[in-house]
Amino acid sequence: MKILVTGGVGYIGSHTVVELQKSGHEVVIVDNLSNSKIEVLNQIHQISGIKPECEIFNLDDRAKTFEFFKNHTDIQGIIHFAAFKAVGESVANPLKYYRNNLISLMNILEAMKEFGVPNLVFSSSCTVYGQPDELPVNEQAPIQKAMSPYGNTKQISEEIISDTILNGGIKAIALRYFNPIGAHESALIGELPLGVPNNLMPFITQTAIGIRAQLSVFGNDYNTPDGTAIRDYIHVVDLAKAHVIAVERMLHKKSKKDFEIFNLGTGNGFSVLEVINSFEKTCKAKLNYKIVGRRAGDVEQVYADTKFANDELGWKAIKSLDEMTLSAWNWEKALAKKIK
Ligand code: WQD
Repeated sequence: MKILVTGGVGYIGSHTVVELQKSGHEVVIVDNLSNSKIEVLNQIHQISGIKPECEIFNLDDRAKTFEFFKNHTDIQGIIHFAAFKAVGESVANPLKYYRNNLISLMNILEAMKEFGVPNLVFSSSCTVYGQPDELPVNEQAPIQKAMSPYGNTKQISEEIISDTILNGGIKAIALRYFNPIGAHESALIGELPLGVPNNLMPFITQTAIGIRAQLSVFGNDYNTPDGTAIRDYIHVVDLAKAHVIAVERMLHKKSKKDFEIFNLGTGNGFSVLEVINSFEKTCKAKLNYKIVGRRAGDVEQVYADTKFANDELGWKAIKSLDEMTLSAWNWEKALAKKIK
């Protein structure tokens, strides 16, 4: 089937394109290259043997979005990644996030109705849960007030999809990611943070390779075993595979509701220090870090109840934390070789 992957040149998008191609789907990408590089298409080509078609424009441009769908009338499903996702930047520039993330989604939904595209997989986030009252957190947990405009765009997007679905004609699945890290085993694709990384894993690997002087660990006074905050880290390839299963669930008309929501995590929580220990052990690299104060907006601990996705999608994350940290390190080393 022909699948549109918006943001398909990005980190999770590119890994999902590879998995879609491996499953025999034809992929077309729309990306605005705001957080990725067009060379990724060549890497995807090297991995899968197929270079996906790709059009470069902003999905918050309604006319260009409709023009695209007019020229691609055989799209059976959309996996919508294209959005800004830096929590800190969203606090500094909320309107940039509301405009891009919400208008892009609304253009996609309007185009789906106009051109009869039936299936949507939406990239959502565990940030919608805030600091859950109960752990592990399941999909029925209350949505808490978003801690950032970024998280709010994910909450509002889920509501927009839910309300749009009511008029019929479209089926959707929202996938709430926990913390995606790691890279493809080929080390040809991975996380390409432009500028100083916000996220833990790229900051660790950039410190180890010498791009950053030292990692700051944001707080060790949390109510956790070692005092550092806990997250549910999931390998990006496990995450990518779940997207293929989700879009095929709708293509094969196996959805049980018009709008389904699944947590995509491993169900295991690891602390910052445990991630650092895993990195040092698997990569045989000593990491230079220091403990500093907490980062505003961080939750203390969050990890997924994965039962619904395991049972309903028949999907389970299988890669270990050590495989995640090792793959991230291999990717960082491959990047360094390219730059030389
Ligand atoms: C992880 C832990 C930090 C950097 C991210 C995305 C969010 C969502 C979930 C997709 C925290 C600590 C970090 C550093 C540190 N993903 N840390 N030093 O905040 O859980 O959220 O994943 O939707 O969009 O932002 O991930 O990697 O920033 O932080 O100590 O330099 O690492 O305090 O405990 P986070 P993160």
